[in-house]
Amino acid sequence: MSYRIFLAGASGAIGRRLTPLLHSAGHYVCGTTRSKMKADTLRSLGADPVVVDVFDATALTHAVTSARPDVVIHQLTDLPKDLDPREMGAAIIRTARIRGEGTRNLVRAAIAAGARRLVAQSIAWAYAPGAEPHAETDPLDAGAEGDSGVNVRGLIALEDLTLKSPPLEGVVLRYGQLYGPGTASDWPSDYAPIQVDAAAYAALLAVDRCDPGIYNIAQSNRHVRTEKARVELGWTPDFRLPA
Ligand SMILES: NC(=O)c1ccc[n+]([C@@H]2O[C@H](COP(=O)([O-])OP(=O)(O)OC[C@H]3O[C@@H](n4cnc5c(N)ncnc54)[C@H](OP(=O)(O)O)[C@@H]3O)[C@@H](O)[C@H]2O)c1
Repeated sequence: MSYRIFLAGASGAIGRRLTPLLHSAGHYVCGTTRSKMKADTLRSLGADPVVVDVFDATALTHAVTSARPDVVIHQLTDLPKDLDPREMGAAIIRTARIRGEGTRNLVRAAIAAGARRLVAQSIAWAYAPGAEPHAETDPLDAGAEGDSGVNVRGLIALEDLTLKSPPLEGVVLRYGQLYGPGTASDWPSDYAPIQVDAAAYAALLAVDRCDPGIYNIAQSNRHVRTEKARVELGWTPDFRLPA
């Protein structure tokens, strides 16, 4: 089955791997960037590019309704390419705003456009302290302080908006720590690593292969359970795009 997809964040680390995957699977992809300079790149990856800022609610609603998507995929963050620690404090604040206000704008636009499903990027290392490995039913660390608290409150807002905005079917992908092409690392982290192609593959599958809900997406590790994605989504961490 092929669908019309609105991919918010097509120019990001995951978006650049996900766009050709969606296109090759036969889906129509309308992909976003804020930069006119990146529009040609998105076109070469298989997307119909649209230049829009998620905080411009009117322009966003126009872009999404024009695309008439069946499914909206949210891969928006605003982090420094190399995750430079000196820039992370400000980046965490910007990204929390995207996850709150930006997700709210995207949900409203998706509903206005008549989309059926919203698939959104969260993270798998924000669980409250407790027995490991964490399942998707474990609580997030809502009591965290400082930058971590800003981060987790943004994630909670994003997940609530994604999962509790009927009639949208919400799917939250809690990604582990990315590595691979276009990310800040060539090598897996010690915590719950995920290669960027396998992360994109989970979003491709989430378009129509799973029930609404939350899925941890990471390689086998001792911190986070990943059985649900393997069994219910049919996902494997070994997926790679052709070189
Ligand atoms: N789970 C993880 O470990 C994880 C998750 C995400 C990112 N990261 C890391 O963070 C670094 C940067 O990654 P990235 O390039 O994907 O992230 P990014 O530069 O933060 O960009 C992500 C996407 O969000 C878009 N975006 C940002 N702010 C926006 C806004 N206000 N309105 C509309 N679109 C907006 C960007 O579009 P533009 O083209 O307009 O910039 C881009 O398409 C990488 O090293 C990556 O590995 C890690």
